[in-house]
Amino acid sequence: MRRLEGKTALVTGSTRGIGFEIAAAFAAEGASVVVADLAQQNPAAAAAEIAAKTGASAIGVALDVSKEADCELAIAETVKAFGKIDILVNNAGITKDSLVLRMKEADFDAVISVNLKGAFLMAKAASKPMLKARTGRIINISSVVGQSGQAGQSNYSASKAGLIGLTKSLAREFAPRQVLVNAVAPGFIRTRMTEGLKDEARAKVSEMIPLGRIGEPEDVAKAVLFLACGDSSYITGQVLAVNGGLYM
Ligand SMILES: NC(=O)c1ccc[n+]([C@@H]2O[C@H](COP(=O)([O-])OP(=O)(O)OC[C@H]3O[C@@H](n4cnc5c(N)ncnc54)[C@H](O)[C@@H]3O)[C@@H](O)[C@H]2O)c1
Repeated sequence: MRRLEGKTALVTGSTRGIGFEIAAAFAAEGASVVVADLAQQNPAAAAAEIAAKTGASAIGVALDVSKEADCELAIAETVKAFGKIDILVNNAGITKDSLVLRMKEADFDAVISVNLKGAFLMAKAASKPMLKARTGRIINISSVVGQSGQAGQSNYSASKAGLIGLTKSLAREFAPRQVLVNAVAPGFIRTRMTEGLKDEARAKVSEMIPLGRIGEPEDVAKAVLFLACGDSSYITGQVLAVNGGLYM
């Protein structure tokens, strides 16, 4: 039997990159999927692509995760379309890199607002139906740099470290109602976020990774699928690193 048969999942930032791969993997395992992304990313088109590829039900919802009203509406639209929400993946994320001395206050605020506050707002909105149903999964996409730190990414790594604290607190709050909350911390993954790397830099990064290669979005999607399905029913408040051994 497919691992997410009968489940409904919403994945933020899922029109491309890691989020798209997660949504497609969920759909292939039988879930009905909500592709939630910024309006200019055309979430409906990505949802149609996933539906055509997998035969699953998929809808697109436009939202900005840093806006509370958008988050509440996205959850309401999910429940309206599919009757419930079983799985939320907080994947939407941005970077605005620079050394601290040059970092503008607005660049710090923007990254925290999307990456960290966005996950809080989505979890808050989704928790209402999940706690009522006494079942649910929330998976937050953190990052290796939230664990290790990274020069030039103080805003981004603070947001990703913050997600780990948020994950553990939500896990404790929601455990009595069997809503499980975990984080996945990817290392270097081949997406638009990392495509700016020059070949030489890419080769250097690969050398630092014990498994000797940059990760693929599918590597992350498989770990998220594990945390979303019945195989992980006794796991909550954890951070699963998917980084090829880059940080242990
Ligand atoms: N690529 C990597 O190496 C890597 C490593 C560690 C963690 N991550 C994390 O994985 C997640 C996905 O990254 P990716 O590499 O696929 O990036 P990406 O830039 O390809 O995708 C990010 C998605 O988030 C969406 N998004 C941005 N702001 C949004 C907002 N305010 N509201 C709703 N959606 C919004 C974008 O439209 C896009 O579809 C991010 O949280 C990122 O921080 C990526």
